[in-house]
Amino acid sequence: MARKLIAAGNWKMNTTIDEGITLAQRVSSADRNKNVLTILAVPFTHLFPVMKKVKISSGVKLAAQNCHHKTSGAFTGEISPAMLAGMKIPYVVIGHSERREYNHEDNALLALKVRAALDAGLKVIFCCGEALDIRKSRGHVAHVKNQLTDSLFMLSASEMKNIVIAYEPIWAIGTGETATPAQAQEMHLAIREMLRKKYGKRVADNTSILYGGSVKGSNAAELFGQPDVDGGLVGGASLSADEFVTIINSFGRKAV
Ligand code: 13P
Repeated sequence: MARKLIAAGNWKMNTTIDEGITLAQRVSSADRNKNVLTILAVPFTHLFPVMKKVKISSGVKLAAQNCHHKTSGAFTGEISPAMLAGMKIPYVVIGHSERREYNHEDNALLALKVRAALDAGLKVIFCCGEALDIRKSRGHVAHVKNQLTDSLFMLSASEMKNIVIAYEPIWAIGTGETATPAQAQEMHLAIREMLRKKYGKRVADNTSILYGGSVKGSNAAELFGQPDVDGGLVGGASLSADEFVTIINSFGRKAV
């Protein structure tokens, strides 16, 4: 098994349903590199309508941006992994820094969410990444190691098949400031080394590690050209079909 090249768009809390359907249709019908797995992480309200409108044959997969850690119960306003799995949504994003910050989701809660998502049969795009002060004090690798250790490393090696890791330095999210390709590569290599130490070479080689943080059409090729950067988790630039398709088509290499 080779690790996948992935371009994932995280729409966050953007687009009305009409805008979302138009955007998804434009991405799915575009001339895209078919070696690249395209994922759209759309708002909950858009999952079903977008799924109905986007052709299965387009190969575009959908993701939810969050889920609860319980299967059902008195949790008003929440969405469970079982509900997503019941709709045949394949992926869920867990641990985005915006949810860590605004919804106070900590590593222990995220471990429960990862467990619940996998138990429901979902694949997880797990986000990690450090704030600027942590990077400035050179604690970024240790910080990401803690996040992975506390929320992911309770999984078995075979469960890791269903995990995609997204490294998103908080200082690069929505700021227009991108990690340099060298900074991204340094962290991705460090993450792969953590995977190798914990699970062995096979899991390390087969896990896709995405970079997120101000990925654009103009910088994607250089970022994706790094040997351990297997794609991107893209926020703002995924809201423009043209820009996102440029990003999808920015991979210079085949899956390894
Ligand atoms: P931007 O691409 O807007 O910086 O957002 C990145 C992100 O948070 C993707 O999840």
